Amino acid sequence: MATATVVKGLEGVVAANSGICWIDGYAGVLAYRGIDIHELAEQSTFEETTYLLWHGRLPSRSQLVEFTGKLTEARRLPSEIYDLFRRFPKTATPMEALRTAVSALSFYDPAESAVDHDSNVRKAFALTAQIPMLVAAFDRIRKGKDVVEPDRSLTHAGNFLWMLHGKKPIPAATRTFDIALILHADHELNASTFAARVIAGTMADMHSAITGAIGALKGPLHGGANEAVMKMLFKIAHEGGDPVEYVRSLFAQKKKVFGFGHRVYRTEDPRATHLRKMSEQLSRDSGNTKWYEMSRRIEDFVKNEKKLNANVDFYSASTYTTLGIDLDLFTPIFAISRMAGWAAHVIEQLDDNRLIRPRAEYTGPEYPVKYVPVEQR
Ligand SMILES: CC(C)(COP(=O)(O)OP(=O)(O)OC[C@H]1O[C@@H](n2cnc3c(N)ncnc32)[C@H](O)[C@@H]1OP(=O)(O)O)[C@@H](O)C(=O)NCCC(=O)NCCS
Repeated sequence: MATATVVKGLEGVVAANSGICWIDGYAGVLAYRGIDIHELAEQSTFEETTYLLWHGRLPSRSQLVEFTGKLTEARRLPSEIYDLFRRFPKTATPMEALRTAVSALSFYDPAESAVDHDSNVRKAFALTAQIPMLVAAFDRIRKGKDVVEPDRSLTHAGNFLWMLHGKKPIPAATRTFDIALILHADHELNASTFAARVIAGTMADMHSAITGAIGALKGPLHGGANEAVMKMLFKIAHEGGDPVEYVRSLFAQKKKVFGFGHRVYRTEDPRATHLRKMSEQLSRDSGNTKWYEMSRRIEDFVKNEKKLNANVDFYSASTYTTLGIDLDLFTPIFAISRMAGWAAHVIEQLDDNRLIRPRAEYTGPEYPVKYVPVEQR
């Protein structure tokens, strides 16, 4: 039997050519289409960044106006989706609701199984506009509130906060949220994007690929980590314990601390640099510095003790909480943003497709094992 070198978790394996996102894990550099994430976070918007991810270059002013218009125009949901949400059990989480609703949206797509470039781009607009609507609508329906219709005069970020809270967000909240969307928009072959590419590679449709990506994002080792971070902070506050002692006891039990460590970064995750600043600023502005200060103490301790850096999920937890967002919406919010990157990757995959089908090193019983009929077992 031939033996191969197995790379557990595909660590370091290069599985695709891609012109979308570049990461230098040692230098802590993340760039979309060559542009440093710090420049985008400081100067761009989610809409412009999405154009960049999909088209490979920044738009001219008129291209941006046209692109934003198409994205705004795509803010439509079939009413059946709201009915579906109303029928979900009370225990349904926003992430389960989102995953199911994205899958269901393919019923209403005019060319559900089409995988040509133009169909993919059209679906990318639709889903990017619809995912924030789904997240906000589900949250309001589960709380017995009326669904808030989108406001086409608001940006992607501002409109989500409007649909979620039912009141117009202040500009500072919109900008903070917009930056969070930029920072989460793409990250090369992370688990959910890889899942999306594997599904698209079979020539399955965009809705299937995005449904699978949402399933992958849900796990606490990936996008679910931001929710897990906030649960930890709430637990520490509830028990009235010391954050450092709490984390020390996790280490003693050989447990992981969510929001730390990364498969690719060996230094600070550049997204965490921004989110730390945002969390600090917001907490000062709101007069509630509790979550930020607790996070800082945990970060210093984990860094000293384990040489592990905070990742994108650590400070997004305190940032979103200070923005008044419930913790089980954190991962769906990650999906709102990452939809831009998932779409870019599905489009890139299908523009030059080859089925993704690796091999496994077989470790089962040695061939041939004789079949024994059930009466003789
Ligand atoms: C992100 C993550 C899954 C990367 O995993 P990975 O590349 O497979 O690395 P490993 O899980 O093998 O970790 C390598 C070592 O660091 C330790 N480590 C990594 N992240 C850790 C964490 N958050 N807390 C405690 N220890 C951690 C592991 O225990 C392991 O130690 P060991 O070699 O003594 O066994 C991992 O760091 C993690 O689970 N982090 C917490 C979840 C999280 O925040 N996910 C969001 C990522 S953006």
